Amino acid sequence: MTSLLILNGPNLNLLGTRQPEIYGHVTLADIEELCAAKARDLNLGIAFAQSNSEGTLIDHIHAARGVHDGLILNAGAYTHSSIALMDAVSSTELPTIELHLSNIHAREAFRHVSYIARVAVGQICGFGAAGYPMAIEALANHLEHRP
Ligand code: DQA
Repeated sequence: MTSLLILNGPNLNLLGTRQPEIYGHVTLADIEELCAAKARDLNLGIAFAQSNSEGTLIDHIHAARGVHDGLILNAGAYTHSSIALMDAVSSTELPTIELHLSNIHAREAFRHVSYIARVAVGQICGFGAAGYPMAIEALANHLEHRP
């Protein structure tokens, strides 16, 4: 069975109360439920994790090698700063979708830079929590059709 790791970075544990005008009222637990439902529909395995620490996120990515077939990564603010996370993704060669709840391109200029985008198959942003099931579908489709 195809298996995906859905990994969430710093401050995403606070979803629901964190800047709801930007991120909405949905909690990370709600998002995990959405992902589980989508995975059931598509007959996929998923693992869901969150960390506020860059090193722990990197450890999760390393541990995914040989266990999961693809990665959905909302790296939070590390998206815009972490060469180490970018290197972790390229080192494991896991097909990766970069995900954001908000449209990072419509926000402050520093959010327009993404180190993850350089090593990702593609990016989904701006659709709030609905982006997660979209990313699962997109990644499953990519894995199914890659040469
Ligand atoms: C975010 C966008 C980032 O710029 C921000 O630092 C976050 C959340 C998003 O999901 O919209 O923490 O990744």
